[in-house]
Amino acid sequence: MFDHVTLMTAICWVLYNLACHTHYQEQCRQEVMDLMQGRDTEEIEWDDLSSLPFTTMCIKEALRLHSPVLAVTRKYTQDMKLPGDRTVPKGAICLVSIYGTHRNPAVWTNPQEFQPLRFDPANTRGHSSHAFIPFSSGPRNCIGQKFALAELRVVVALTLLRFRLTPGINPDLGTAPGEVRRLPLLVLRAEGGLWLQLESLTSHTSRDD
Ligand code: HEM
Repeated sequence: MFDHVTLMTAICWVLYNLACHTHYQEQCRQEVMDLMQGRDTEEIEWDDLSSLPFTTMCIKEALRLHSPVLAVTRKYTQDMKLPGDRTVPKGAICLVSIYGTHRNPAVWTNPQEFQPLRFDPANTRGHSSHAFIPFSSGPRNCIGQKFALAELRVVVALTLLRFRLTPGINPDLGTAPGEVRRLPLLVLRAEGGLWLQLESLTSHTSRDD
């Protein structure tokens, strides 16, 4: 259950971030269209995944800003000396904030901004291996991370081929009648409201898809 919830949450946040940053969305769509050019099926093969570098950067940046898992805990198996003459005793439980790590200004420049190019391999050199930990780290990290990243790329690629995404507005929150219902709405979080509008890019996709 946990694995499906995290993956579903990640998909929602990637789509949301791409809806909010249409130029990055277009760049991803172009990358996918280039990949699919000349094919008569809309299927993504395992070997295709490495041909989506910019889409992968956007996925990682969404996982940095909106990590589905906010924190993990660990129990100290031995005393741990910290700077400043302090010691965490063996047996203590420590909470590692993934959210805090991913938004730490000492680690990330302008951490609140969605900047996929941070994950360009040219820019990640010298980064700590623990700066980006959506799947945690160490021997008990997420065993599904490769599968999750693969599924994310497939879902994002096939969604962008079919739809243009823009932030939507909850129609119950007083928008003009008809204004937002023209397009299908994907509800990310109904209460409090994260909505996306899906504009079909293919002639065979109906508004109920
Ligand atoms: C974007 C999607 C996902 C995220 C962000 C995520 C994140 C995490 C995190 C943070 C942990 C905790 C590790 C720790 O305590 O250090 C974890 C554990 C785990 N995840 Fe995932 N996960 C995702 C998808 C999946 C999928 C798709 C599967 C299975 C197919 C999966 C299977 C597991 C399992 C079995 C563990 C427990 C590993 C252990 O305790 O040894 N996860 N995941």
